[in-house]
Amino acid sequence: MSSAHALPAQWRGQALAPLNPDTAFNGYICANVLHALERLGVFQRLAAEHTLDISAYCEQHALDPAVFQALVRAADSFGYLDVHGGQVRATAVGEDAVRALGFFTWGVGGYHDVFANAAPLARGDRRFGADLHRDEAMVALGSAQADTALMRHILDEEIARIDFHTLVDLGAGISERVSRLVKDRPGSRGIGVDISRPATELAHETVAGHGLAGVVQPVCADVLDILFKDHEVDGGDTADVVMSFMFLHDLLADPRRREEVVPRLRKAFPQAHTFLLGDTTIRPRGEGEDSRLPVFSSGFELAHALMGVPIHTREAYERLFERGGMRLRRTVPFGAPHTYLFVLEAA
Ligand SMILES: C[S@@+](CC[C@H](N)C(=O)[O-])C[C@H]1O[C@@H](n2cnc3c(N)ncnc32)[C@H](O)[C@@H]1O
Repeated sequence: MSSAHALPAQWRGQALAPLNPDTAFNGYICANVLHALERLGVFQRLAAEHTLDISAYCEQHALDPAVFQALVRAADSFGYLDVHGGQVRATAVGEDAVRALGFFTWGVGGYHDVFANAAPLARGDRRFGADLHRDEAMVALGSAQADTALMRHILDEEIARIDFHTLVDLGAGISERVSRLVKDRPGSRGIGVDISRPATELAHETVAGHGLAGVVQPVCADVLDILFKDHEVDGGDTADVVMSFMFLHDLLADPRRREEVVPRLRKAFPQAHTFLLGDTTIRPRGEGEDSRLPVFSSGFELAHALMGVPIHTREAYERLFERGGMRLRRTVPFGAPHTYLFVLEAA
């Protein structure tokens, strides 16, 4: 598969394939360590204060000192932290890694059970969605972290050129994006729709944290019910801008309804003049530096194959929008590897 479009240089990545077994095994452990340290607030503390005292940190956060020591030592051996005399600092790689932590929240926090059960899934002994689940809240949190680190400035630039009063975010996760955009546009309101109860509960906290209770409304609902079963969301009929991020492929999962999704989006939100749809696409193969891999793409592609959710190329998305009656204003590289923001007008 190849693409006629030039790709941002950083999407080519730095991981050299083939990954030898030493690198692969250590990468697996290292990913778990980074996720654990992120969950324990270590990177946030180091970003704010540059150094961390192991004993004091364990006491302050009621952590088992032996386990915490083992984690920071592991991170030291992987080159992310420097540990000297009970004091911890981030290395240059550790400082850089902060921007990529959302991918670890997503992969390790969200998909650990799915990846670990790949063989039973292949055999048909387990089925995703029946007796095997991802951690929806971690998937949503990882997406929000990646947004903050890599994507938010790109969306801000696009939305600054667009008028809106009511913004709807579909598959909104913890409603971080919609809250932020509404906060920046006084007088506007927002709705964040997500199927996951845990993510919607977190969304209520996000909204309250932004001081937007009553202005941004998190709604726990299945977007497919809105599109295909006339399920109505309060205020949805007045939406003038509809967005969705990292979610479109979920809406398109059923091949029997795929062609209908874009026309139904237009029908469900009749006042919407602009649709901002961001999603990760299939990494084009067979171009340039094939031996280098970026963060995220391999995980995104495998996770969705294991879940039985097809993912799509940039070109396939663009054709689908056109067939569904939306006009593509532009396709913008959207921070994370092989991820695009499609800026669309209801034609
Ligand atoms: C990868 S996350 C992206 C979250 C958020 N848009 C972001 O970028 O931070 C995908 C989200 O879609 C939600 N989702 C999946 N299927 C859904 C459906 N049918 N209706 C509503 N939400 C859904 C999941 O619960 C999850 O929060």
